Amino acid sequence: MKIAVLYGGTSGEREVSLSTGKGIINALKKNGHEVVDIDFHPDRLNEILELDVDLVFIGLHGRFGEDGKIQGLLDMLGIPYVGSGVLASALAMDKAKSKQIFSQYGIATARSKTYRVENDNLRAIEEAIKQDFKPPFVIKPNQEGSTLGLTIVKDTTEIEEGVKKAGESDDTILVEDYIAGREVTVPVVGKQGAEKALPVIEIIPKSDYYDFDSKYKPGGSEHIVPAQLPEEMTEKLQKHSVLAHQLLGCDVYSRVDFIVTDEDEAIILEVNTLPGMTPTSLFPDSAKKIGWSYEEMVEKFVELSVV
Ligand code: DAL
Ligand code: MG
Repeated sequence: MKIAVLYGGTSGEREVSLSTGKGIINALKKNGHEVVDIDFHPDRLNEILELDVDLVFIGLHGRFGEDGKIQGLLDMLGIPYVGSGVLASALAMDKAKSKQIFSQYGIATARSKTYRVENDNLRAIEEAIKQDFKPPFVIKPNQEGSTLGLTIVKDTTEIEEGVKKAGESDDTILVEDYIAGREVTVPVVGKQGAEKALPVIEIIPKSDYYDFDSKYKPGGSEHIVPAQLPEEMTEKLQKHSVLAHQLLGCDVYSRVDFIVTDEDEAIILEVNTLPGMTPTSLFPDSAKKIGWSYEEMVEKFVELSVV
């Protein structure tokens, strides 16, 4: 097949996407496909309009890649692509909106509130957060990935910097109660209505929490696959990850992040519709556990996307 891979992009996760894109491009080539690779940014829109390919593999992360916008453009052009469509991508990217949906369907989420940044109101936001939350809590941009712009507030003196940092990448700031526990994630694969969860992965970061460096520096974290959890918890995580994927209307693949608390609660953090596929990424590690090499995993996504 002739497949275009879009990667790179202009979001804060550009570097991650360069690595994801490289992995996907190499795998598709090894699998015998003809690959057109596009480090995607607005100047290259014309090339998308003129693309003559059988399929697009979106290797982008974050804004203008994972948020439904490029999916909308491809829909209008009638070009099939791998993964979730416009609505699911946009919903998953909007953490606050997706959390509302999860809680309606009995998937536990951390208590949270959003604050809109406008007209130099950062001080007012800081005051409101002080009223609404007691440390520890988390301040993050509502639409961002790879923990960029995220602050774990342990003391109220950290609120000012946290609000400033989150406000730099999004005009909606999300604040959530900090949930202590084990960080786990579950890949989901399949056509709509026939999804299955892959083995649960536990992440043991080398730093305090799973931040950007522990995500992408080789050796920055340890992945335990399958996570050593009681069977009922594994079942619950797999059930809830498929449910979360379906509730948002995702397609082909996603990865669902949770915290498992000491009280045996599974608190969902978010659904990633274009999870990282870098050498240190989680999804390929879980796929390996069920016997799929990186190349086989990529080929599965291609097969599931071709109707
Ligand atoms: N947002 C990054 C790429 C991930 O979830 O893997
Ligand atoms: Mg994410």
